Amino acid sequence: MPFLLAVSASHGQSGGDVNQRVESLLARMTLEEKIGQMSQSTSMNTPLSDAIRAEIRAGRWGSFLNAGSPGDRAEAQRIALHESRLGIPLLFGRDVIHGYHTVFPIPLGQASSWDPELVEQAARTAAAEASREGIRWVFTPMMDIARDPRWGRIAESLGEDPYLASKLAVAMVAGFQGKSLGDPASVAACAKHYAGYGAAEAGRDYNSTWIPEILLRSVYLKPFHAAADSGVATFMTAFNALNGVPSTGNRFLLHDILRDEWKYDGMVVSDYNAVLELIKHGFAANEADAARKAVNAGVDMEMVSTTFFDHLKELVASGQVDQRQIDDAVRRILRLKFRLGLFDREPPAPAAAEPTPQSLALAERVAAESAVLLKNRNHTLPLSGNAGSVAVIGPLADSAVDQMGTWNTDGRARDVRTPLAALRESLGAGRVHYAAGLKDSRDLSHDGFAAAVDAARRSDAALLFLGEEETLSGEARSRAFLDLPGAQNALADAVKSAGKPLIVVIMAGRPLTFHEVAGKADAVLWAWHNGSMGGPAIAKLLFGENVPSGKLPVTFPRTVGQVPIYYAHLSTGRPASESELGIPMGNPEKPTGYTSKYIDVDFTPEYPFGFGLSYTDFQYGNLSLSAPVMRAGGTIVVSADVANRGTREAREVVQFYIQDETASVCQPVRELKGFQAVVLKPGETRRVSFHLGSADLAFYNSRMELVTEPGKFHVWIAPDSTRGVEAEFELR
Ligand code: GLC
Repeated sequence: MPFLLAVSASHGQSGGDVNQRVESLLARMTLEEKIGQMSQSTSMNTPLSDAIRAEIRAGRWGSFLNAGSPGDRAEAQRIALHESRLGIPLLFGRDVIHGYHTVFPIPLGQASSWDPELVEQAARTAAAEASREGIRWVFTPMMDIARDPRWGRIAESLGEDPYLASKLAVAMVAGFQGKSLGDPASVAACAKHYAGYGAAEAGRDYNSTWIPEILLRSVYLKPFHAAADSGVATFMTAFNALNGVPSTGNRFLLHDILRDEWKYDGMVVSDYNAVLELIKHGFAANEADAARKAVNAGVDMEMVSTTFFDHLKELVASGQVDQRQIDDAVRRILRLKFRLGLFDREPPAPAAAEPTPQSLALAERVAAESAVLLKNRNHTLPLSGNAGSVAVIGPLADSAVDQMGTWNTDGRARDVRTPLAALRESLGAGRVHYAAGLKDSRDLSHDGFAAAVDAARRSDAALLFLGEEETLSGEARSRAFLDLPGAQNALADAVKSAGKPLIVVIMAGRPLTFHEVAGKADAVLWAWHNGSMGGPAIAKLLFGENVPSGKLPVTFPRTVGQVPIYYAHLSTGRPASESELGIPMGNPEKPTGYTSKYIDVDFTPEYPFGFGLSYTDFQYGNLSLSAPVMRAGGTIVVSADVANRGTREAREVVQFYIQDETASVCQPVRELKGFQAVVLKPGETRRVSFHLGSADLAFYNSRMELVTEPGKFHVWIAPDSTRGVEAEFELR
C-alpha cells in the first residue's frame, strides 16, 4: 500500500505543475498500463459487469465513450481511482453534438445565426449538463467544411465557409472548455473530423476525398488551425482517405501539419473503429500493421477497435514502434486528465441534469436566431396575432424526435415543444386546425390530404410544416436526391388548392431542393431541425414576436445536379452572366453561348450563401475606405451605412467580403472576411466598419507559401454573398 500512497500523494497535490505530475506518473507505468490509457471502449455496460470492473482495476482502458449511466460512470471512476494500481482516472466521452438534455438546433442551424456569442452560450449549457452526469469530453465541434448537401453530415457542420466556420468553432470550443478545463462544469472539446471528411466524393459518406494541398490549406484546414490555436483539447481523425492516405494513418496531417507546423500538443483520438478500418482501406495489411501505422502517424488513443491493446507490445518489442511514440501519446492523455482535474477530486455524485427554464429559454433563442426567412411575398408574414384561425399541417408540425435532429442521443421527447403545441398554446386550441396530412416525411399516401385541405379551408392561413425526418439526416445518411421526401410536394399542391395564404416552414438537416413548393408558397421559413424549443421559436417568428435574422451558412442549390455549388468559387475563363438567367428548369433549352452554365437550369443557386430576409427592410449605402491604397503590413478601414427603412426593430448580420482581382493563383470571386450583427430600430442608420489588414489578403501560392501580392482588390459590405455596396482599393 505504501507504494500506492506514495503515488497518490505525488499526484494528489492539486495544482502542481501538470507536466511534472505527468512525468512522475509516466515513469511508474508499465508498457501494458500505457497501452491501456491509449484504448477507449464503448463496452461499459449497465450495471457494470464484473468483467468491466476487473478490466478497470487492471488499467485496461483509459476512456469510455457513449456508455453507461451517471451512476455507472461514478462507480467506474471510483474503481479506477481507488482500486487500480496507479489510480489513473477514466475519461468519459460522448457525442454531445448540439446540446445534452436541452437540445439546441443542429450545428448547421446554429451556424445560421452567425452569432458566436450565442453558440458559445449553448455549448456552455451543454457542458454544464453533460459534466453533471460525469461526461468530461465531448466529440464536438465538427468543423468539416461542407459544400455538398447530399452528405448527411452537413447537418453537423458549420457550413461551407472557412471564415464563418472558424469563428463559430472557436466560440463553441470556448463554451465547452470555459476559462479552465479544471472547472468541473467544463468539458474537453474535440476538433473533428481531421481532415477533409466533408469533401467525400459524390457526397457519399466515408468516401474518398481528393483535395489538392492548396485547397486543403485554404479551406478545409482553416477551422482546425483556428481551433488548435484557440486551445481545443483534442482532435479526432476522420474516416476518409485523403488523397489516398486514410486520415487515421496520415502522418502528413497528424504529425507534419498538426505537430510540426501548428505546434499542437493536445490529444488525438481515432474515429470509431477507424484504426481497424485501415485494413479495409487497403492501407494496412493486418491489425498489427494498422496499429503500427496509426500510432506512428500520430494517433494517441484508439476508439473501440483494440489493435493497440492487442499488438503494440510486440510492435515495441520488435522495434516497429518506438517506445517514445507510446510515451508521447500517454503524456498527452495524462496531461488532459490532469488538466480536467480528474486526479484531484472524487467523481461527481451521480446526478441527473435536467433542462432548466434558463436552458430552455436559451434553446428557444438559438432556434429563433437560426431560422432563415427565404421568401415573404407581399409581407404575408408576420401573421397578425388576432388573425382568426390557422391550419397546422404536415409531417413535421408535431414530431418531437424529428425536431431534435440528428445526434439527439440525450434529448428527451418529453422536453420538446413542437410547433403544434406552441401554436395551440399561443392562439388557443380553438383557433388551430391540425391535420398531419402525411404520417411521416417519407409517406407516399394521399389518404390524409382531404383532412388537410379541409383544415386549410376552415382557416385564415395554412401553415405547412415540411422537411426530413431526423433519421434521414446525419452519419451514413447520404442522399442522391435532395427533394422533399414522400408525397410532400403533392401535399403542398393540395393545401394550396384551398386558396388560403400558404406559409411553408421547413425543418431539415441539409439544404433541400423545393423549387416548386417555394413558388407556390407566399412565405418560406427555413427552421432546420431546431431542438427542444423549436416550436415556440417558430410560433413567435410567424406572429412577429421575433423577427427572423438568420443567414444561410451554406448555398442552397436549385437542383442536385448543380452540386457542389458554393459562393467562394473561381471566376473561370468564361463566367456566365446574369443576362443568361431565366432558363426553365429540367427540359434543356436550345443551347446558346459558350459560358460556364447549364442548358437546363440557371447556373445560380436557389438561395445564396449569406442570404436571409427580415420583416423590415435594410438598406446599405455610402461605402467608404480609409484610404485607396494599402501598403504591405498596413490596414484600411472599410465602412458603410446600414439603415432600417422598415417598421420593425430587427437584427441584421452585416457581411464583409473581398476579392483579389488578379493573383498568381486564381482567387474566389468573393471571400467572407468579416461579419457583425447590428440591431436597428425603425429609421435608425448605423455606420458599420471592418478593419482589413494585409495579412487578411494572404493566400497559398503554388509553392504552399502564404503570400500577399500587390494589385486591385474589391470589397463589399453586404446583406449576402451576391449583393451589397462595393469599392476597390490597391495593395502596394
Ligand atoms: C461516429 C462519428 C464520430 C463520433 C464517433 C463516436 O462514427 O464519426 O463523429 O464522435 O463515432 O460516436
